[in-house]
Amino acid sequence: MDEFETLLSETEAALAAASDPRALDAVRVGVLGKQGRLTGLLKALGGLPPDARRERGAALNQLRDQLQARIEARRAALDDQALAARLASERLDITLPPPVAPLGLIHPISRTMDEMAAIFGAMGFTVGEGADVETDWFNFGALNIPAHHPARADHDTFYLPGERDGRPLLLRTQTSDVQIISMLGQEPPLRVIAPGRTYRADHDATHSPMFHQCEGIAIDEGLTLGHLKGCLTDFLRAFFGLAALPIRFRSSYFPFTEPSMEVDIGWNRRTGELGTGGDWLEILGSGMVHPRVLANCGLDPRRWQGFAFGMGVERVAMLKHGIPDLRPFFESDLRWLRHYGTSPMGPAILHEGVA
Ligand code: DAH
Repeated sequence: MDEFETLLSETEAALAAASDPRALDAVRVGVLGKQGRLTGLLKALGGLPPDARRERGAALNQLRDQLQARIEARRAALDDQALAARLASERLDITLPPPVAPLGLIHPISRTMDEMAAIFGAMGFTVGEGADVETDWFNFGALNIPAHHPARADHDTFYLPGERDGRPLLLRTQTSDVQIISMLGQEPPLRVIAPGRTYRADHDATHSPMFHQCEGIAIDEGLTLGHLKGCLTDFLRAFFGLAALPIRFRSSYFPFTEPSMEVDIGWNRRTGELGTGGDWLEILGSGMVHPRVLANCGLDPRRWQGFAFGMGVERVAMLKHGIPDLRPFFESDLRWLRHYGTSPMGPAILHEGVA
């Protein structure tokens, strides 16, 4: 084998062993680069007599073309391989069904509170918030329920260790604390509703130790029982979607309102149907804010009047949707949630408000 054949066959072997563009380039530089083997042979031509130089020069040019062709062929083969590997690894199976995006549903408690915010919002109420952990002043004292008042015993309160402002801490038993928070935090006139969590040490088919209430309070000059009755009548009829829902205001007692009224709606006790049947179902508590509660919040009862109301969110949701049992609200059973949940992807609607 002459030296040309040796160079050609050794280069071929090196090219076959080069498995990526970098190795290939190293082979190319080793042969055709400045210090490469073929370049060395070309440089040596200068020392030959003219005839021999011409002959060997032509042969070396031919050899260079062959070497270049082999290198390019190997480069093309490596490119093909890389492309084939990418095509195989990035293959898309377009026959697969598209994955279904998991879509959550809105829990009936959240949905009900949103509905309350929408209906009262149209009447000019804003949504306020209290805290789950309160002092007994906000939950009881400021609401005219002093220590040893019998109403405290009714509430099965969870007391917590520690105190704030020298007052025992508790889990609020009612959202009525937001009446105090609103009156202390805002200048009247004000209209606030406050849906939120409440706690009582009570657990059976119709009671959960954690449940939800929605409070409402309106303070203004010259507010009367008539405003209270109109506001709650409109709310209940809108909420239950029954324009002629019978509504009865019944005299009652709450320490923080005077006079106080319980509100009943008409229903059929036997079938559970709302709006007909001649029976009455108690649905919420309400009244004119007690002068002492106004004074506790620094408001002069001779100038400011107001009404307040409170209702159980689970209770009205159960009535509206015919849900028989309270417990599944908090059991996170997906079958129940899928049944009573509402889609967050409903169509957007523009409406003009009701106020
Ligand atoms: N907080 C009362 C309860 O838990 C409900 C209530 C009654 C709220 C009368 C009020 C009201 O604002 O005026 O039973």
